[in-house]
Amino acid sequence: MLFEQIILVKCWFLLVFWMPNSIASLSNFSELYEEVEKLITNFDTYQIPKNNDEYFSNNNYYSNEEDYGTYDFIVIGGGTAGGVLANRLTEENWSVLLVEAGPPEPDTSSILGLNGYLGRSIWSWGYNTTTQKHACFASDNRQCFYPRGRMLGGCSSLNGGLYARGHPKDYDKWASGWSYKDVLPYFKKSERAEFTIDIDRSYHGFEGPQSIDVPEDTPGLTVDLINSFKELGARELDYNGESSYGISRFQVYLDKNIRSSTAYAYIRPAENRSNLHITTNSFVTKIDIKQNRARGITFVKNGQVYTATASKEVIVSAGAINSPQILMLSGIGPVKELRKHKIKVIKNLPVGKYFQDHMFFAGLYYRTDHVYYNLTLEEQLRLWYKNKRPLVAATGFQLVTYYNLQNDTNERPDIEILVSGPPAAGSNWGAIQGYNKKYTDIFKSLNGLTDFMIWVMLLHPKSMGEVTLKSKNPSDFPLINTNYLANEKDVDTIYEGVQRVLEVTKTKAFENIGIQMLDLPMPGCDELHSKFSRKWWHCSIRYLSTTVYHPIGTARMGKSCKNSVVDSELKVHGIDGLRVVDASVIPDHISGHLNAPTVMLAEKISDIIKNEYSGNN
Ligand SMILES: Cc1cc2nc3c(=O)[nH]c(=O)nc-3n(C[C@H](O)[C@H](O)[C@H](O)COP(=O)(O)OP(=O)(O)OC[C@H]3O[C@@H](n4cnc5c(N)ncnc54)[C@H](O)[C@@H]3O)c2cc1C
Ligand SMILES: *[C@@H]1O[C@H](CO)[C@@H](O)[C@H](O)[C@H]1NC(C)=O
Ligand SMILES: *[C@@H]1O[C@H](CO)[C@@H](O)[C@H](O)[C@H]1NC(C)=O
Ligand SMILES: *[C@@H]1O[C@H](CO)[C@@H](O)[C@H](O)[C@H]1NC(C)=O
Ligand SMILES: *[C@@H]1O[C@H](CO)[C@@H](O)[C@H](O)[C@H]1NC(C)=O
Ligand SMILES: *[C@@H]1O[C@H](CO)[C@@H](O)[C@H](O)[C@H]1NC(C)=O
Ligand SMILES: *[C@@H]1O[C@H](CO)[C@@H](O)[C@H](O)[C@H]1NC(C)=O
Repeated sequence: MLFEQIILVKCWFLLVFWMPNSIASLSNFSELYEEVEKLITNFDTYQIPKNNDEYFSNNNYYSNEEDYGTYDFIVIGGGTAGGVLANRLTEENWSVLLVEAGPPEPDTSSILGLNGYLGRSIWSWGYNTTTQKHACFASDNRQCFYPRGRMLGGCSSLNGGLYARGHPKDYDKWASGWSYKDVLPYFKKSERAEFTIDIDRSYHGFEGPQSIDVPEDTPGLTVDLINSFKELGARELDYNGESSYGISRFQVYLDKNIRSSTAYAYIRPAENRSNLHITTNSFVTKIDIKQNRARGITFVKNGQVYTATASKEVIVSAGAINSPQILMLSGIGPVKELRKHKIKVIKNLPVGKYFQDHMFFAGLYYRTDHVYYNLTLEEQLRLWYKNKRPLVAATGFQLVTYYNLQNDTNERPDIEILVSGPPAAGSNWGAIQGYNKKYTDIFKSLNGLTDFMIWVMLLHPKSMGEVTLKSKNPSDFPLINTNYLANEKDVDTIYEGVQRVLEVTKTKAFENIGIQMLDLPMPGCDELHSKFSRKWWHCSIRYLSTTVYHPIGTARMGKSCKNSVVDSELKVHGIDGLRVVDASVIPDHISGHLNAPTVMLAEKISDIIKNEYSGNN
């Protein structure tokens, strides 16, 4: 690393670029096998850091800054959106510095089936929510576990890989210029559809960098499950197409067997461009703002503090939890919050407010009379090379369906139901979810070879939370108050969703495959309410529901400084040369999953930036 520091010079085009490792050992079975084994073994004992101290490893902090040079654009965060920007902006003759706090993505991140393990590893921030009043009852201190990607590709390198854009009407609630008609071309631009099933072709892209595919069916399960929904009148369809009201196989970020993260699809193909400089293990502590213009950033790497200058723009892409932290540490945020921590106020904006997240109810487990994938790890990995389950899909995901509780299919849905298959609900499940010992032990009775689960996901929560600072010290983790289920209506909606699932499980097709609902103990609810009564479900929902990891809104887009942080071009109100481009700008939740909309918005902003500076290179 010393080498890297010595070669720092101001002219980007003279830099000798340091390359993070790329996924080389995927072709070496024994090497990959060892890495997978290590990831799984370390899972139980890994101690999640309690703050960011690892970055401040010497006493240099706030002294002795070194100049890291001048770039046209500095992108903070090499995650989902940051990866897209790094690639698209370096298509032009602009120099870009991509600053990522985490390490390069590991080889194991290529395997979707391992995603749960990555949440408890050096490749995740491993946050918790603050103590919740109305939810997270099955976790210690009522703090839900809150993993986030901390590596190149960000969350796209450890998420479930599900590709679900949401309902067209979701986008009508965004700022002007973001209607579904406006954004559809950018969904297509990023996509390379490689389906073996029928899709609505006019809604898909075929030449983009990110492969989307449908994992193979699970023999003796997938088709039967589809039939149980059909028995209730559902039509089989492409939920990313004309309508999402039907039953569908999940579409997944998958290039044959490999996870198609933005690291894989956008960063790696651009990594050797001479105008892209990637620095990993580099934690941004501050945006440097003078006379209402973002001039550059301060970051720390291996205990050394650096400053870098942006001649055009600083773009914040640190995600919906860390972007608000960086903005507030830099003096952009609610006056009250900044004063509380004695941070000089540069601009009063509702940073961290309007937080929304999706939750799912994790209390519906089923046991089949089949045994699926009774294989050694080695056998599983060999199948993975052949694009086969179980490791080719995260959490055994199979099917997805949407419900509008008024049965009004012209409106957006309230509920998404996700059907997983084995090995979704194995004995590790409780630990992956971050439940406390009591509940983790209950979930140890799940059998990964026979059991699966059905998730009920709340799409449009009425409860809103916020992200605030613990202190002005960048080493402290931000505080994530999700405020889950504060509004009773959210519990009702999830309960209605559970009722829809119970209808499906009464179908002949479901019974024919010998599936039984598991009756697991629910301490906290069993004592108070009769099992499976409305009150019991309400109680279980507050215990077991947890995040689907979809935070938004903490730097939302809009017109007014009162209720938004960025304008429709994602420029921070009142500050020049500063944009936020990531899931924090999404102003209202979508009826789907967040990766695709995040990639879409980074694609669209890249074009907006190219137009803005064209002829002005
Ligand atoms: C476990 C999990 C499962 C999910 N499953 C799905 C799914 O199946 N389908 C789906 O569509 N969505 C899913 N999501 C959500 C989706 O992945 C995210 O919403 C999306 O990736 C967010 O992208 P982003 O660019 O906003 O942030 P991120 O991808 O989180 O990128 C932010 C990056 O900034 C870096 N960073 C943060 N702070 C700093 C700093 N101070 N200095 C430098 N760098 C910094 C981070 O390390 C990270 O790499 C899941 C998320 C998680 C966590
Ligand atoms: C695979 O990696 C192992 C361990 O690093 C090494 O000994 C072996 O030679 C490699 N095999 C191939 C085919 O490259
Ligand atoms: C999150 O909560 C768990 C369980 O109480 C605890 O072990 C862990 O240290 C907490 N993590 C952080 C970052 O505080
Ligand atoms: C690209 O930009 C560099 C640095 O500004 C400049 O020296 C070079 O001439 C430009 N190249 C082209 C092809 O425009
Ligand atoms: C970038 O360069 C490295 C080192 O030479 C090489 O291993 C890698 O394959 C290159 N990447 C691309 C996308 O060409
Ligand atoms: C899984 O396979 C092992 C070894 O073949 C066997 O002993 C075990 O009974 C099988 N498990 C189940 C649930 O069938
Ligand atoms: C919608 O349809 C479901 C399932 O067919 C039914 O149980 C429910 O009562 C209907 N709801 C309304 C509001 O019509």
